Amino acid sequence: MSASYRTFFGMTKEAFDTDLSMKDILETQDIVSIKQSLDFTLQLGAVGLITGEVGSGKSTALRYVLSRLHPSEYKTIWITACSGSILEFYRLMISELQMGETGCKAVMIRNIRKAIRETVLEKKMKVVLVVDEASLIRLEVFAELHTITQFEQDSKPWLPIILAGRSNLIDKLMYQTSRPLASRIVSRSHMEQLSRQEMEQYLLHHLSITGIKTNLFEDTAITAVHQGSGGLLRKANHLARGALVAAARDKSMIVNADHVRLASTEIF
Ligand SMILES: Nc1ncnc2c1ncn2[C@@H]1O[C@H](COP(=O)(O)OP(=O)(O)OP(=O)(O)O)[C@@H](O)[C@H]1O
Ligand SMILES: [Mg+2]
Repeated sequence: MSASYRTFFGMTKEAFDTDLSMKDILETQDIVSIKQSLDFTLQLGAVGLITGEVGSGKSTALRYVLSRLHPSEYKTIWITACSGSILEFYRLMISELQMGETGCKAVMIRNIRKAIRETVLEKKMKVVLVVDEASLIRLEVFAELHTITQFEQDSKPWLPIILAGRSNLIDKLMYQTSRPLASRIVSRSHMEQLSRQEMEQYLLHHLSITGIKTNLFEDTAITAVHQGSGGLLRKANHLARGALVAAARDKSMIVNADHVRLASTEIF
């Protein structure tokens, strides 16, 4: 059934999909302010923070703002963090830098520094380390992470870091042992939940990606998606898609609040 809702509504692709191309990402107010924070952080070669609830759009926002950096000017090292040790963190960096062997910790650090130094001095590019899911990182990793940013006796800001994660990231950065890293933070952005009006715009935007130019959602359905999702995007996606499926089952071209309620019984 889930595919036949597309036929019913005449959609060209799956609605409220995760696989969005850059042009399909809605430039929300949060994204605009993240872009400004990123520019500021990169300018200073410092550390920037992006927090938000689960499914609030952090990774998508990051993907979007990083895509705006010119690829001939910037090299992005994107890491999806894990709860492992600092060694595992360095391994992730090494793999992202496409450097084959790893070795002991000192060797890994030396190789990472060398790769960054070469990128900056020889290739004349800027580097940015982006750590998504940073709230998973252990305290002992936070205690050490700033050392990888230190070049030429900490005088060259060659490795700005963007940390993105859930709000408990802030708690971890408040620990005494995280101070050296936290003291390098120059910008903080928080992904806010969408307002009712923004949710309407968001739903219409996702419908338009599927080729639907009219609003299929009744006002009450938009309110139900907004309330049911708490303004969080992934949950809104599931509710809205589920509601489309329920409306198609009803052979209704308009989605109402009951369809959203039905959809809500199937998701978390
Ligand atoms: N700006 C946007 N425009 C259109 N769709 C978006 C946008 N931001 C997020 N989405 C949609 O919301 C979904 C969830 O967003 P995303 O994965 O970025 O959230 P997250 O905050 O990184 O979640 P998590 O906490 O689980 O890592 C995306 O798969 C996408 O479909
Ligand atoms: Mg994410």
